[in-house]
Parts: sequence; C-alpha cells; structure tokens
Amino acid sequence: MDIQVSHVSKSFDQKQVIKNITFTIPTGQICCLLGPSGSGKTTLIRLMIGAITADEGTIQFADVQMPNMNMLKKVGFMPQNDALYNDLSAEANLYFFGGLYHIDKRKLENRIDEVLAIVDLTEHRRKLVANFSGGMKKRLSLATAILHSPKILFLDEPTVGIDPVLRRTIWDQFQLIKDSGTTIIVSTHVMDEVTECDKAALIYNGSLIEYGTVTNLLEKTENGRVEELFFIASSESKGGAVR
Ligand SMILES: Nc1ncnc2c1ncn2[C@@H]1O[C@H](COP(=O)(O)OP(=O)(O)O)[C@@H](O)[C@H]1O
Ligand SMILES: [Mg+2]
Repeated sequence: MDIQVSHVSKSFDQKQVIKNITFTIPTGQICCLLGPSGSGKTTLIRLMIGAITADEGTIQFADVQMPNMNMLKKVGFMPQNDALYNDLSAEANLYFFGGLYHIDKRKLENRIDEVLAIVDLTEHRRKLVANFSGGMKKRLSLATAILHSPKILFLDEPTVGIDPVLRRTIWDQFQLIKDSGTTIIVSTHVMDEVTECDKAALIYNGSLIEYGTVTNLLEKTENGRVEELFFIASSESKGGAVR
C-alpha cells in the first residue's frame, strides 16, 4: 500500500514541530526519514500511524483516509523505546501482542515460530525479556511489529545502540520484509543507512528539505554523502532563508 502525506502540520504548545509536509511513498518500497535528533521524525511517524492528530493536512494509506481502524490492523509499528514486558518471556510477549491483533491460536503458534526464526531468537524464546541485551530487545520488538504480517511497517530508529554486525542482519531482515510486498518507513539519524533505502525524506527542523530516490539525492551531493544536504539546509536557515 502506498502512503500519501499531504500538507501535514503539527504544533505542540504553540511551537510548530511539523511544517507543511507533503510526500508520497510508493507501495513496497523502503523510505527512510532522515534527520538529526529533534527534527520531527518520531512526531511524523506518530502522525502517520494516527497516534496523534495533525493540526492541518491529511494522511492516506492507499485510498483510505487515516486514522481508520480497519487500516490500522494492516500496520506494524516498532517504537523508538521498546514497548515490551520485561517480566514476561520473549514468547509470552509475542502471545500477548498476537492477542491484541486477534490472530487465532493455531495460526499464532506457527507465526510466533516464524518471527522468532526471522529475528534469530528461537533459542532464547523462553528467557525473560529482563535478561535480554539491548540488541535482543530490538529484535524482539521487531518480531512483535511484524507478527500480523503488516502491509505497512513503521520502524522508529530500529538500529540505535546496535553494533554494526547485528545492524547488517537487521537490515537484511528489513529487505526480506520489503520483498514480501510490505512498505517500510524507517527513521534514522545514521546517514550511511540511507543507501539501504529506495527513497529518503530529509527532515530538518520540522520541514521536509529533500525527498526523492536515494540515487537522485546522492547525485545532488558533491562527495556522495547525504550529510552535505543538511549542511546546505542549516546554513540557509541560519541566513534566514529557510524557516
Ligand atoms: N508530546 C510533545 N509535547 C511537546 N513537544 C514535543 C512532543 N513530542 C515532540 N515534541 C517536540 O517536537 C520536536 C520533534 O521531536 P521528535 O519528533 O521526537 O524528533 P526526532 O524523533 O526527530 O528526534 C522536538 O522539539 C520535541 O521536543
Ligand atoms: Mg525520534
């Protein structure tokens, strides 16, 4: 399913943190929301999943205006801070989330085996999450987000605090999920992760400063480094051109 964000703005306490953002993410692609800390990535994701409402503008998944309860069943979300139960085992966490998604018991048992294998936690399934490392929690969090085979998957800084080797395996998993036809929106402040994505939306100070295919965006830079696009935006905003 494609995602259409049209003229979306959002303020908190009189301060506009999302400023008139418009872009479309095609079905089955990976789009990263790239931007420094505090630029508005999490807020934009929360707007897209309908956790908060926009002051202005609209968000559509396929032809359906969000928020929409039926559509939300097709959405997976991995929050920036893992929403897991520490006093439950990995498997018990998955049963809990499976219950929330109303997956029937037989199907759920099979699907839990499947997602545990995908995130490589099968041998740890009976361990308490309290005893998990940060990386294991991230992987379990991903498993809960894909349990119901969502058509659209939102991942908010999924690789923060994860070592490069594990980061590689996690990106491999995202590519497999993409290959199954799921549209993926992933936020990151790690510039080199952009090359894993089809599209990139550069967010700076609540504004969308660049959007396009990763290939096109990299062509706009002199040294093939996305950081450069932010340097341009920040010098323009200091000069008062962008605000
Ligand atoms: N619930 C909230 N109330 C007030 N301000 C908020 C709230 N959520 C986010 N903000 C502010 O909005 C801005 C963008 O935050 P956020 O979306 O979390 O950025 P990012 O995810 O890119 O780090 C920040 O200035 C942050 O302080
Ligand atoms: Mg964030």
